[in-house]
Amino acid sequence: MKDGRERFDLLLDRVWEIVDGPFDRNEKLEAICQLLRDGVAYYDWVGFYIVDASKRALVLGPFVGEPTEHVRIPFGQGICGQAAERKETFIVQDVSQETDYLSCSPRVQSEIVVPILKEGEIVSELDIDSPTLSPFAQEDRIFLEDVCEMVSGLF
Ligand code: SME
Repeated sequence: MKDGRERFDLLLDRVWEIVDGPFDRNEKLEAICQLLRDGVAYYDWVGFYIVDASKRALVLGPFVGEPTEHVRIPFGQGICGQAAERKETFIVQDVSQETDYLSCSPRVQSEIVVPILKEGEIVSELDIDSPTLSPFAQEDRIFLEDVCEMVSGLF
């Protein structure tokens, strides 16, 4: 297995192939979730939330991992809702230290949420839970922001 940036670059090539491929948006988003989960050992639950702009809420879209009760999250609530409001990547290296956190599973130790923007407006989010403490490096942030940049073309 290749390490760091080289591995992320290979995954990014695969993401582009999926985005550019013949399937519909939900099929592509699910394939990207599977790719990320299979490709990075410390990524566990991987999913997309889709913005319901009129209600300022996030609605669960394609994901891989255990089912979650958090199928609808208002802007401002939890890590996902805070990231939506800020329109910025939100990394929580230890969820036990985050006061506004919506737990999906007691196994989760850390989380990264990357907003997907289209013409400056948030349209979706990529959410990744990890069972590892403090796993996310600057390389993860750059990689996942690149993924989301590509995915924004689907909206
Ligand atoms: N933990 C998230 C909720 C979504 S689950 O991780 C799938 C949050 O605090 O917003």
